[in-house]
Amino acid sequence: MQTTKIALVTGGNRGIGAAIAHGLAEHGMTVVIGARDPLAGEEAARRIGGRSVPLDVTDDVSVRDAAARIEEWYGKLDVLVNNAGVSGGLDGQQVGEVDLAVVRAVYETNLFGVFRVTETFLPLLRTAGAARIVNVSSGTGSLAWQSDPAHKYATSRIAVAYPSSKAALNMLTVMYAKGLAADGISVNAIAPGACATDFAAGLGLSLERTAEQGAAIAVRLATVPESPTGSFLEDAGTVPW
Ligand SMILES: NC(=O)c1ccc[n+]([C@@H]2O[C@H](COP(=O)([O-])OP(=O)(O)OC[C@H]3O[C@@H](n4cnc5c(N)ncnc54)[C@H](OP(=O)(O)O)[C@@H]3O)[C@@H](O)[C@H]2O)c1
Repeated sequence: MQTTKIALVTGGNRGIGAAIAHGLAEHGMTVVIGARDPLAGEEAARRIGGRSVPLDVTDDVSVRDAAARIEEWYGKLDVLVNNAGVSGGLDGQQVGEVDLAVVRAVYETNLFGVFRVTETFLPLLRTAGAARIVNVSSGTGSLAWQSDPAHKYATSRIAVAYPSSKAALNMLTVMYAKGLAADGISVNAIAPGACATDFAAGLGLSLERTAEQGAAIAVRLATVPESPTGSFLEDAGTVPW
């Protein structure tokens, strides 16, 4: 059995995922980049001295194949970072104009993708012992913040598919934390903060926070000696659910 910690980052080829992959590699982990574009995955893996697997979180066969390959290479998985996510864009998720095709596409990646990947990799996580799952959520998924008239979200553009997918991801996090406690597997959600990635640019946002800053809390949770479980965290501490 490998003694080096093995980590998989979904959507690890760019943005916050690539920064998380880099941070985990700097902590001495062997990092596997999961990327739906194999060439982009190989390029990102080369930059951090890791490996890559083709991985589309919306595709059962792709996820199963990725798990089979990691099992063959390492026989276990110590850290799973469910990072792959989409915003769904600006159209079709405003109240009164909701396009269910947009909602389904967002949920397929941000929520069902996490179920699919987590369930498929559970045997490898159980084999590792004291494994960790980090779900990349969003502060926009906080019911507390979204319903607080004093919070900045009170005046932000109201889109329903993306925040609700992340709120559901938060509940998934709590349920898996409880369900996997007996296996010693910790499961936490993180809010990276608004970061200047392609994701933000696609929404017309110009931001100063870097992907590396957004990645820091995920890297910390994956590497601290004692991990909490069932938490929702950002740099500054706990995010209210
Ligand atoms: N940026 C922010 O301000 C912000 C704030 C809060 C939360 N987040 C969350 O942080 C995570 C990363 O966001 P980001 O800003 O780094 O976005 P990004 O730059 O757009 O990168 C998204 C990553 O997810 C991958 N991806 C999308 N759909 C996928 C699928 N079906 N299968 C596998 N990979 C898929 C993309 O792959 P391709 O290269 O193939 O498209 C890409 O690697 C997301 O979960 C997002 O919701 C971001």
